[in-house]
Amino acid sequence: MKTRITEMFGIQHPIIQGGMHYVGFAELAAAVSNAGGLGIITGLTQRTPELLAKEIARCRALTDKPFGVNLTFLPVLTAPDYPGYIKAILDGGVKIVETAGNNPQKWLPALHEAGVKVIHKCTSVRHSLKAEAIGCDAVSVDGFECGGHPGEDDVPNFILLPRAAEELKIPFVASGGMADGRSLVAALALGAEGMNMGTRFIATREAPVHDNVKRAIVAASELDTRLVMRPLRNTERVLRNAAVDTLLEKERTLGAALKFEDIIEQVAGVYPKIMLEGAMEAGAWSCGMVAGLIRDVPSCQELIDSIMAQAEDIIRARLQGMLAG
Ligand SMILES: Cc1cc2nc3c(=O)[nH]c(=O)nc-3n(C[C@H](O)[C@H](O)[C@H](O)COP(=O)(O)O)c2cc1C
Repeated sequence: MKTRITEMFGIQHPIIQGGMHYVGFAELAAAVSNAGGLGIITGLTQRTPELLAKEIARCRALTDKPFGVNLTFLPVLTAPDYPGYIKAILDGGVKIVETAGNNPQKWLPALHEAGVKVIHKCTSVRHSLKAEAIGCDAVSVDGFECGGHPGEDDVPNFILLPRAAEELKIPFVASGGMADGRSLVAALALGAEGMNMGTRFIATREAPVHDNVKRAIVAASELDTRLVMRPLRNTERVLRNAAVDTLLEKERTLGAALKFEDIIEQVAGVYPKIMLEGAMEAGAWSCGMVAGLIRDVPSCQELIDSIMAQAEDIIRARLQGMLAG
């Protein structure tokens, strides 16, 4: 399959693995890229630029295919060493960066000068247009269904993607709720040039997370996610667990008076405990509604091959067949 996204990134299939905190290590990024998609290392999971440089080198040793690095701009007072992370990306010869969380304008000249393509993750049409206006090369349009931060507009992909297609000139991929060949064909029909998946890629053999995390995703239905931190306008879609219930109870009782410090125990520093140790009740962790469509833990190659085979079958047999006669 050839789309503007496969052409831009030099990949075989229009499937991207979005950056994920404590999931997007070299093993997963390389496995996705080796299977013909675009794997992405999560920059900030590496505590320093030096560690990111090592992770990039590790990924390079595992694949000769293109891969990217995610840089998430967090709403925090003391910013991480972004110039250092960008230097590690450029020195490591990485040619694709996924930005998210905030406007990446400040960093675009350095990235573009080095020939890096930038795909910015946006949860609204207006942010997507802004990304286009400041010179981003592509957008990952993240609908309300998505795991992680869906923004505050609550527009699901059935509306958001065709709206993005109406307005954008640069190519975009559909993100949020994508799981299989059906998702890919639907995304293409709605105007996207490919799809980005988060939650689905956690439940793969190569994802270097504890088996408990994969089991939790397979066991979850589409009814099992919750939105937290909405009162702080930092909404996150997470899998429901005891910590999330505690957090939501605090949100209910404190109302508008809620501050980040009130919920710090449930959200800060919990990812290593969950992803690496499998302590599933340790806190709130991002997970998409798409968990309801995930029932197995295949290899990345099996997953991507089955997505492409199903997409082709839908296009050639089901859709084409409907037109015949
Ligand atoms: C566990 C987890 C951690 C994530 N961490 C990040 C992150 O650090 N930065 C980022 O830009 N997106 C992050 N995301 C969002 C994903 O990159 C992707 O946009 C999202 O998962 C798409 O929705 P889906 O889960 O329905 O496929 C995370 C998602 C999950 C599930």
